[in-house]
Amino acid sequence: MSTVRVRPARSDEAAILAEMANDLNDHVGVHGRPFTPERVRAAGFGPGAAFTPLVAELDGAVVGYVFFSPGYNTDVAARAMWLHDIFVAPAARGRGVGHSLMAAAAAEAVRIGCVSLEWGVHAANAGALEFYRRLGAVGAEVRIMGVTGERLRALAKACDGGRE
Ligand SMILES: CC(C)(COP(=O)(O)OP(=O)(O)OC[C@H]1O[C@@H](n2cnc3c(N)ncnc32)[C@H](O)[C@@H]1OP(=O)(O)O)[C@@H](O)C(=O)NCCC(=O)NCCS
Repeated sequence: MSTVRVRPARSDEAAILAEMANDLNDHVGVHGRPFTPERVRAAGFGPGAAFTPLVAELDGAVVGYVFFSPGYNTDVAARAMWLHDIFVAPAARGRGVGHSLMAAAAAEAVRIGCVSLEWGVHAANAGALEFYRRLGAVGAEVRIMGVTGERLRALAKACDGGRE
């Protein structure tokens, strides 16, 4: 029987993490493959990391990962863990790896006092939606919006450092 093991990622695994994170973007139709090993190292390791990366091993080989970070849910005024990404390599799917990654993220959420584990999912990602339903997840339609690039800088420039 195959053995699944989830553990913290090491910084020397930044290349495989970048590869898988780019594959996930491709899977959901976000193109450009923005992850590089350097970006993963800068964002996932050391003081001030933007997310915690865990990897899943199947029979000793890294086949999946999850990224999450602590957040806050203002609907219930309580801490919530935000799951940025979960991915399992196609050849390793359907063997409990994804479930083990979600369980590890949930365990960390409970450990630090979060009341929920939350994430966003593309409406067209039918496989992931079914995976999440089987975990007992429920959802609400929320549109995620953002400003970026020049629009972000223009908005920041409009900040005068305080108003009377
Ligand atoms: C979604 C994903 C992480 C699931 O990983 P996995 O290792 O295949 O999942 P598991 O084997 O742990 O499956 C757990 C349960 O979900 C079900 N499931 C998983 N993928 C499914 C799918 N595509 N369709 C229907 N059911 C699915 C399994 O049958 C299992 O059900 P059970 O508990 O009733 O037996 C994986 O398919 C993946 O990486 N997909 C591409 C990336 C992606 O879409 N990530 C989510 C972004 S929001």
